[in-house]
Amino acid sequence: MILYFSGTGNSLWVAGRLSQALGQAKPVSVADELRRHAGDAVCEYALCQDEPLILVFPVHSWGPAEMMLRFVSRLSVRDYAGQKVYAVCTCGDTCGWTDRILGEALRKRHLPLTGCWSVRMPNNYILMKGFGVDPDDVREAKLAAAPAAVDAVAAAIRNGDTGVHLTVGTQPWLKSRLISPLFRRFLAGPDSRTKFHVSEACIGCGLCERVCPTGTVIMKDGRPEWGRGCVQCTACINRCPVRAIDWDSITQGQGRYHYPGL
Ligand SMILES: Cc1cc2nc3c(=O)[nH]c(=O)nc-3n(C[C@H](O)[C@H](O)[C@H](O)COP(=O)(O)O)c2cc1C
Repeated sequence: MILYFSGTGNSLWVAGRLSQALGQAKPVSVADELRRHAGDAVCEYALCQDEPLILVFPVHSWGPAEMMLRFVSRLSVRDYAGQKVYAVCTCGDTCGWTDRILGEALRKRHLPLTGCWSVRMPNNYILMKGFGVDPDDVREAKLAAAPAAVDAVAAAIRNGDTGVHLTVGTQPWLKSRLISPLFRRFLAGPDSRTKFHVSEACIGCGLCERVCPTGTVIMKDGRPEWGRGCVQCTACINRCPVRAIDWDSITQGQGRYHYPGL
């Protein structure tokens, strides 16, 4: 079973390609599952005897995307009998100790993490000064390299490989143990406020509301408004078809990214 979270389509594409390569059923969206299981209800799944559980998600601030951690905190495998649990994360560059943070969350649900891989994909983080989408040549090079990278992960999973195969990067303690929790607490927590605003270019299509995984974006009188609880997945701003959404003044005139054809 493949469960995924994706803001701008990279992880969705990886989940889809993995499911084809491994002959798995269509990947299941954890954002939909969290909505389906109201309140704090446990999200329980049954696995066949040799069926692996595969979690696919983006790295956000050198840790797993907040939505995946929320999902794992409510995850249960009915009659768990030692099936393998794999994680495949997508990142722009480096993951820090994403595997350790996810492994700790899984252990609380009595699920040991068998193996973890990262796949480099185009960057979608644009909400802070100094960050932005990749230059065109870098984006294209990442997209060109991605299919072989995902196929290699699928082959490793088929072989039953274990271990951590992430691009960790420098100073993982600082990034994953200090910066990541601060990001989660102040920028992507339940009370987080956003600096999103919309321009006159808005056509009122409502895509931003539909792709928001937390219900933070609500259409009012044909225009989006942002409430609390944004997890900074960047789906709304990166997927707006007319680039009408900005974050403060930081994103004005800057590029946008979502997986091609999403
Ligand atoms: C809030 C946020 C934080 C991010 N932090 C990192 C990071 O720490 N390291 C990294 O390499 N990429 C980081 N990225 C880039 C994403 O991991 C990458 O673009 C990913 O493939 C996006 O997946 P998606 O399209 O499935 O949402 C971040 C993106 C966002 C939105």
